[in-house]
Amino acid sequence: MLKTPPFPTQDLCLARWTSGMNRSVLRQMLAVVARPGILSFAGGLPAPEMFPAADYGCALNQVLTADSGALQYGPPFAPLKRHIVDLMTRRGVTCSEEQVFITTGAQQGLAVLTRLLLDPGGEAILEEIVYTGVQQAVSPYQPRILPIDTNLYTGLNVDAVANYLGQGHRPAFLYAIPEAHNPLGVSMSLAKRQQLVELAARYGLPLIEDDPYGFLRYEGKLLPPLRALNADWVFYLGSFSKILAPALRLGWLVAPADLVPKLTVIKEMEDLESSQLTQRAVAAYLDTGHLPGHIERLCAEYGRRRDAMLSALERYFPVEACWTHPSNGMFIWVELPPHINTADLLETAVTQEQVAFIPGHAFALPGHARHNCLRLNFSNCTPDRIEDGIRRLSNVIQLTIDNC
Ligand SMILES: Cc1ncc(COP(=O)(O)O)c(C=O)c1O
Repeated sequence: MLKTPPFPTQDLCLARWTSGMNRSVLRQMLAVVARPGILSFAGGLPAPEMFPAADYGCALNQVLTADSGALQYGPPFAPLKRHIVDLMTRRGVTCSEEQVFITTGAQQGLAVLTRLLLDPGGEAILEEIVYTGVQQAVSPYQPRILPIDTNLYTGLNVDAVANYLGQGHRPAFLYAIPEAHNPLGVSMSLAKRQQLVELAARYGLPLIEDDPYGFLRYEGKLLPPLRALNADWVFYLGSFSKILAPALRLGWLVAPADLVPKLTVIKEMEDLESSQLTQRAVAAYLDTGHLPGHIERLCAEYGRRRDAMLSALERYFPVEACWTHPSNGMFIWVELPPHINTADLLETAVTQEQVAFIPGHAFALPGHARHNCLRLNFSNCTPDRIEDGIRRLSNVIQLTIDNC
């Protein structure tokens, strides 16, 4: 057989924006810590044993046998949109089917909104420590990022937003995760939510509200999403990834109905449409009425896991450390003494104690790294393993402190 020489990719002229593009630090780390035997608090993974596989399997089977549109191209599935309107009502948001736009996960929602709102070289407001997916979504546009800091008890700094707007900046949008921030685990206070939507309305600032964790609440009163406080300036992103399963790759946007035709064209450029099979199977699953009970079971189990991690941190971590106390979501953010570099710590933790986390710098905007911070996920391990993993991690931290 004739062997073709490897293609000289160094001679290929790539689009200019890709020169600043690195492989996602987060993905690289996740690949390293996915080795067998590693007890991982690294990924943002739901608990696989909680997936409603049997019920979803029945729905999928029913759709495959009885629905002739299941394997065909087709428009967004209207019965699924009706279910999403009901789900949004449970989240305190009133919207119509015309305002619901089905996406292939919240990540695609972010990508299409970015394409809709952001010009190349335009401005956007992001938190200094923020979900890496938004940094990836904006990077092709090489924007000027206006960074804002985040208070670990009350959420993003709304005064900093007001300052930018007061100075005359008119960014394309502000991205926020008001409920259960990834990676910080903080939820925005009601006062800040109200202040932010008022600013948005006053200055005409579009807000992208990313809410994949909004249904996963373990204590306290559920606060209204930004979209419930302002229907005009807030684009809401929802997802089935954390309440059903990420492999479905199904989410939604709530956006002004008159923008849906434009969003449709943008989405068509990317993937034509979200899988008809998945849309119809999820709608069939939702028809059974099993979702509310499933979410209740998720909240009970994840609440137990969060409590297990918080008490293990209390028991084992050094007094110099502090961490967030999330009332919902999947993550705890830990600050260690300033001289500890969590990238180095990860190496030692993986090799000596076979335990993993994500160092804080993976989530930082350029120039805003927190080298002494780390993110822990609590949804993917049982309480016993959480206790064991936090104890092992604390051994490595203590050793590092002792050696300094
Ligand atoms: C804040 C945030 N937004 C969006 C996503 C992506 O969600 P999806 O799986 O629906 O694309 C994630 C996934 O972890 C996330 O944490």
